[in-house]
Amino acid sequence: MATFTLPKNSTIGTGQTHKAEPGAKNVKTFKIYRFDPDTGENPRYDTYEIDLDKCGPMVLDALIKIKNEVDTTLTFRRSCREGICGSCAMNIDGMNTLACLKPIEDVKKDVRITPLPHMPVVKDLVPDLSHIYAQLRSIEPWLKSDTPPPPDEERRQSKEERAKLDGLWECILCFCCSTACPSYWWNGDRYLGPAVLLQAYRWIADSRDEYTGERLDNLEDPFRLYRCHTIMNCAATCPKGLNPAQAIGKIKQMMVERQG
Ligand code: SF4
Ligand code: SF4
Ligand code: FES
Repeated sequence: MATFTLPKNSTIGTGQTHKAEPGAKNVKTFKIYRFDPDTGENPRYDTYEIDLDKCGPMVLDALIKIKNEVDTTLTFRRSCREGICGSCAMNIDGMNTLACLKPIEDVKKDVRITPLPHMPVVKDLVPDLSHIYAQLRSIEPWLKSDTPPPPDEERRQSKEERAKLDGLWECILCFCCSTACPSYWWNGDRYLGPAVLLQAYRWIADSRDEYTGERLDNLEDPFRLYRCHTIMNCAATCPKGLNPAQAIGKIKQMMVERQG
């Protein structure tokens, strides 16, 4: 299974240890990346011993318990707690995944948690997603059509047309895939990466969209699309079981077909 490198600002020291309560019998150790740019200090790992008999089963449950009961300064994103919002994406035990879907018992040793790799860090486990959201905006992820919708009715698709969106619409934009992609690590300033390209294909594949040609033109570039080298880390890490590499391959195929 692939493991990924640490965030960009990573000379990491050892920080504080928060011991479990006396008498705790089912203790699990969490080593969590801490970084606060306001202090000017290097990042560090803080250690938290958690009594699993008093904690929910998922890694996000432990993070919430730490924040509520042990250390209110720990900073992370989360919202839905059920794998829908994509907010709690982080690197757990070497894999990018969603903390709310990751059972603590799946990690056999200490639970090591860092932010999504190769992204600037805002604080602790919170990556700065400004650039990747700007890239998402650049592919215009919404239906574009010059034909007005039928009166009092939605735009219709056949079952076959709708089925072409399966494996695409489920993406929750957690960016586990892009931040696991070596090509995105090295060329993320210009390469769009698997998450944004999967979104691009989601609209290219939509029978109701009338801007397929323009969308392909927008991707026809040595960097925006063609930095994917089919390494497949993206599919290996996607917590929703999607395959961005396959979507990227379909875009490339359409590029070839329209030239031929
Ligand atoms: S298949 Fe392409 S997008 Fe996916 S990890 Fe590899 S290079 Fe990145
Ligand atoms: S393809 Fe998967 S890993 Fe990538 S952003 Fe979408 S849900 Fe997350
Ligand atoms: S909290 Fe929403 S996906 Fe984890």
